[in-house]
Amino acid sequence: MKCSVAQARRPESIGEEVTLQGWVRTRRDSKAGLSFLELNDGSSLGNIQVIAESALPNYESDVKRLTAGSSVTVTGLVRESPGKGQATEVQAASLTIHGLADADVYPLQKKRHSFEFLRTIAHLRPRTNTFGAIVRVRNTVCNAIHQFFQEEGFFYIHTPIITASDCEGAGQMFRVTTLDLANVPKAEGQVDFTQDFFDRPSYLTVSGQLEAEIFACSMGKVYTFGPTFRAENSNTSRHLAEFWMVEPEMAFFDLNDNMDLAERFLKRIFRDVLKRCPEDIEFFNDRIDNTVLETLRHIVDSRFVRLPYTEAVGILEKSGETFEFPVAWGSDLQAEHERYLTEKHFQCPVILFDYPRTIKPFYMRVNDDGRTVRAMDILVPKVGEIVGGSQREERLDVLEQRMREQDLRAEDYWWYLDLRRYGTVPHSGFGLGLERAVQFITGMTNIRDVIPFPRAPGSAEF
Ligand code: 4AD
Ligand code: MG
Repeated sequence: MKCSVAQARRPESIGEEVTLQGWVRTRRDSKAGLSFLELNDGSSLGNIQVIAESALPNYESDVKRLTAGSSVTVTGLVRESPGKGQATEVQAASLTIHGLADADVYPLQKKRHSFEFLRTIAHLRPRTNTFGAIVRVRNTVCNAIHQFFQEEGFFYIHTPIITASDCEGAGQMFRVTTLDLANVPKAEGQVDFTQDFFDRPSYLTVSGQLEAEIFACSMGKVYTFGPTFRAENSNTSRHLAEFWMVEPEMAFFDLNDNMDLAERFLKRIFRDVLKRCPEDIEFFNDRIDNTVLETLRHIVDSRFVRLPYTEAVGILEKSGETFEFPVAWGSDLQAEHERYLTEKHFQCPVILFDYPRTIKPFYMRVNDDGRTVRAMDILVPKVGEIVGGSQREERLDVLEQRMREQDLRAEDYWWYLDLRRYGTVPHSGFGLGLERAVQFITGMTNIRDVIPFPRAPGSAEF
């Protein structure tokens, strides 16, 4: 019976005859004429120990040639392991090699490699303990995301990746074109995009929000979950040029409903990871950051602090800290400010809301004070912002005014404005950056190490 290493490691498998398929992590030969193989197939952090005795017909010809990275099929009996730290082991009755890995050149020989080095071998790093654990946690987070929204009655909507509108208005979009860059058509001195594939300038999306709003305004509660793209040239440990974002959008939700949902949602993700990936989280706690386990356990039972932006500025001004960037009402908070609030001052997740209207996108609902908008950001220790969201401006005249303020042309957003013309409703939503969430859960310091193939300035090889 084909069986995963994860399954064969469980005591229930003792006495079963199993077929395991995977990659050898190490081989050790004993004087007694037998070999111990550590086998891994990605199904769990832990390997299974395979015992290959010299009585195997291909012991000398095959087993003794196995090196780290070799791929094999092993059939044998699962039995109780006398060794410490493992419940089971497999006594090989047969072993077949699929491919050897030349020990002189196979890059994953050492026990430990730097994450910088592993980024240069993105095709092999999934075979390391850390990266395997990242993949399993990331998978569990994605599963929790879908389960949560499905259980809550949301519809999963696929919003487009190619778009003509800049949702965040930050001008950080990658252009999509089939124009010949060496011979760009011009009209009146400008690039003539009417000759381009889509008859207009088009880009990779920075957010599926605007399209999700369309569906919230007919289906009630929806979410979109996909890759998003930002050409911000920020070479930081928290920014990617291509990252995954999950964006729920709910009709008839105000900002408080939105915060309640986001808090429940995050706790559900953390709880699922604790429940379903205990071995991996323990690994991160031992090897990467010895606070992750306690932080996650604490967060699922605590209440997030909710704080208006204006009060946050007051706290920062009185903090006595010297920040690189000064704090002043009306300017955007920097990562150092966010981290002070969540790591030092409150030591728990913080939901900041009611930001100045001048620093937030056009679609956020303007408060009665006229100076602030119904924005919310969720900040967590070490990572800073993991969620950004808001209640949306549902009043046509106010929205048009906001668009003028930000130099957006109403005719480019006529369909978005129509949602306010025909049966407008209060509605809200937010976006969770998947990689920021995985970073927070695992304690990994660089966001490039929590996505299979990181896209960042100058990095797109694999
Ligand atoms: O705060 P942001 O820009 O919000 C939006 O895009 C809204 N349209 C979401 C919505 O209301 N539907 O981005 C949301 C989140 C951030 O909090 C962060 O977690 C993540 O996306 N994010 C990034 N993650 C990695 N690399 C980047 N360059 C990111 N930019 C944003
Ligand atoms: Mg944001």
